[in-house]
Amino acid sequence: MCGIVGYSGSKKALPILLEGLKSLEYRGYDSAGISLKTDKIYTVKTKGKIVDLITLITESRLDTKASIGIGHTRWATHGHPTSTNAHPHTTKNVAIVHNGIIENYRDLEAYLKEKGFSRATDTDSEIVALLIEYFLEKYDFFEAFSKTIAKLEGSFAIAAISTKADYIAVAKHESPLVIGIGNNETFIASDVAALIEYTNNFIFLEDGDIARIEKGNIEIFDKDKNLARRKITTINWSKQKAQKGGFKHFMLKEINEEDEAVRNTIQSRIMPDGRLILEELDGMEEILKNTDRITIVACGTSYYAGLTAKPVLEKFTGVKVDVEIGSEFRYYNYIYSKNNLFVAISQSGETADTKEPLKMAKNNGIPTISIVNVKESAIARIADRCIYTLAGPEISVASTKAFVSQLAVLYMLALYMGHLKGKDNSKEARYLLKMPHLIKETFNMADKTANSIAKAYCKYKNYLYLGRGICYPLALEGALKLKEISYIHAEGYPAGEMKHGPIALIDEQTPSVVVAHPHEPYYSKTLSNCEEIKSRGGKIILVSSKPHPIADETIQIPDVNYDFAGFVYVIPLQLFAYYSALYLGHDIDQPRNLAKSVTVE
Ligand code: G6P
Repeated sequence: MCGIVGYSGSKKALPILLEGLKSLEYRGYDSAGISLKTDKIYTVKTKGKIVDLITLITESRLDTKASIGIGHTRWATHGHPTSTNAHPHTTKNVAIVHNGIIENYRDLEAYLKEKGFSRATDTDSEIVALLIEYFLEKYDFFEAFSKTIAKLEGSFAIAAISTKADYIAVAKHESPLVIGIGNNETFIASDVAALIEYTNNFIFLEDGDIARIEKGNIEIFDKDKNLARRKITTINWSKQKAQKGGFKHFMLKEINEEDEAVRNTIQSRIMPDGRLILEELDGMEEILKNTDRITIVACGTSYYAGLTAKPVLEKFTGVKVDVEIGSEFRYYNYIYSKNNLFVAISQSGETADTKEPLKMAKNNGIPTISIVNVKESAIARIADRCIYTLAGPEISVASTKAFVSQLAVLYMLALYMGHLKGKDNSKEARYLLKMPHLIKETFNMADKTANSIAKAYCKYKNYLYLGRGICYPLALEGALKLKEISYIHAEGYPAGEMKHGPIALIDEQTPSVVVAHPHEPYYSKTLSNCEEIKSRGGKIILVSSKPHPIADETIQIPDVNYDFAGFVYVIPLQLFAYYSALYLGHDIDQPRNLAKSVTVE
């Protein structure tokens, strides 16, 4: 949450900062600002989105030739989303942008007060600018910056400029910060997506790093203040992938890309004969063979991917699987088994509530694997091994293509572990290869129907989403999607549990989305639940490969093996949420109050 960007080179910094901020807007969008440095520092900031910032910049006729600057798009934690609380925070000689939380800001405020410095905003971040200004009385800018960073507790990615220096100073601890290497120019950002237009070469700073960036010159110091060498990683995401490409919203584009995302994730890892090549797990065979429990930890959609894959992991490996929510797990005294394997799932690789449990598992000596989409992100780096989902950049806040790509990795992991435990599951692996084709077919079949049903139903204020077996976590994910972007209250429930409470909600005004696989062991029981809904006046939207007269509406999709239903059944649910939000006129890619990468607790 919060996006930061910076530029130091020979070009005009302003357009580069604004473009970067547009790409980072999914990280937060309640206020935004930039600071540019020539002989002085110019700062423009406002409540609202990047488009509001651009309007303000145009109105203020800010046209500097500055070739050094920093920018920020905010997701408020401390202090309301106002123009005053927007970043950059400035003092006489300093401007800073910050992503994270300065946990000891009250202590630092007291320390600064004695020295005659006080805050003008309600933010924790302003403390950083004040501290640098204070240290500037005695030290040069970089020393003042380093002394400031040494005093901070919490999580931060910080970029600062000063009237007293011609470089950007940056620091990273527990919040992401990437340096983009250009030709005699350097970029910084919270993630690669903001910079892919300018470069494919990146340095990912490590926790504790501080760097001085002056045009193409980058000096990095580690936490012990030693000059550090950090490797350069090339990321071949194309510029087009981070653009809408003719689609009205990133979300629809990304739903459209789900077949490709799964294809890219599996094609070099599953051979046509069903053999699996997971190089990422080389040398881990004994551990995987002896694993007697798998603990999956994740948040949001990634958590539901874990829940969806659980029965399949158990079936293919014979190993018990626990799927836990990150924010709960970190304060829970989890009892590991003797040969436990820990799996963290995260699209962004930065979710604090997933990262912390991963660290805890490592500290307990548990072997860890992460399933991550964003290269070199924290969760990718902390785990012993990381299997990347190759979904390409996911920009829409509501996660879609990451879900099916995570399923693809979880299924490969299940099949690979099953193989190590002596099972022949090459037939299932070959079936997995069919998923990209089935996903495309599903999109083509479901798109129009989901659209027209959403148009007719978006007036309803409450929904139940019901399913059994593998369709239950899919119902949860469908309800989450609807809540996230259309702000309609939706509750996911196991269909059989409905009679123990939620049935009281059923009336003419509460439709139920029923996710039902016709070959599931309890299909007829789900149909009985539908009868119970109908007899209380409730409407039914059935998501299934087999229409049934009990439904008021059906989104029909292709037939798929029950164990693989997640890849196919989730798509109409995503489309239905998308079109509902579209007809309600919401900002689909940037839903209120949400952020894509949640780096705070
Ligand atoms: C946020 C996003 C969700 C996402 C969740 C987990 O809440 O809004 O879309 O599913 O974080 O994110 P991760 O990057 O760890 O998968």
